[in-house]
Amino acid sequence: MKGVTTAPRPLAAEDDTAAFDCGREALNQWLRRHAWRNQELGVSRTSVVCDPATGDLIGFVSLSAAQIERAWLPKAQQRNRPDPMPAILLGQLAVDLRWQGRGVARSLVFYALTTAVRLSREVGCFCVLTHPLDDELRALYTRFGFEDLPFDPARSMAVRIGDLLHNGFDGAG
Ligand SMILES: CC(C)(COP(=O)(O)OP(=O)(O)OC[C@H]1O[C@@H](n2cnc3c(N)ncnc32)[C@H](O)[C@@H]1OP(=O)(O)O)[C@@H](O)C(=O)NCCC(=O)NCCS
Repeated sequence: MKGVTTAPRPLAAEDDTAAFDCGREALNQWLRRHAWRNQELGVSRTSVVCDPATGDLIGFVSLSAAQIERAWLPKAQQRNRPDPMPAILLGQLAVDLRWQGRGVARSLVFYALTTAVRLSREVGCFCVLTHPLDDELRALYTRFGFEDLPFDPARSMAVRIGDLLHNGFDGAG
């Protein structure tokens, strides 16, 4: 993504969210109706990347504090753990149709995971959580080390901060 889009920055009130179209109306609407309000309320932080030439929004990813029930984890990970377990939610991820297939989502997820690792140095956090909208998207997250939470009825996926550290996410990026 380097050189193709601007670096991720916080969503701003003046960003033109109406022109953004990722092909999934629920996510377009979330960006238009909720992203800025949530930003002001402090309940989610949305980072955006833009077209360096025009300033148009190309993609976004949102992060929030979250928690998971210990009972959602694989049995082997449930012993001697607090309940619930602290997490960071990768809540929304989308890329404009004109920019899809060029690695923008990959870079946004990388940015989100790097941010989560950095935060975990200051605030205890066990994993990054996400709620993929369909099975194809589960495959996308699997590429980043996300795994199904086997006992979660909502079929969330998560990647442990410890595994991210093990795989070279040092949180410095
Ligand atoms: C899904 C989406 C974010 C992918 O964005 P993108 O910038 O085109 O993705 P990238 O080019 O960075 O591809 C990243 C990887 O995911 C894969 N991928 C891309 N779109 C995918 C999809 N819809 N399903 C499964 N895998 C996908 C790519 O093959 C690539 O894998 P690779 O690096 O091993 O080749 C984008 O298509 C989108 O905004 N869709 C509509 C909104 C949506 O569904 N958001 C996800 C909510 S959970």
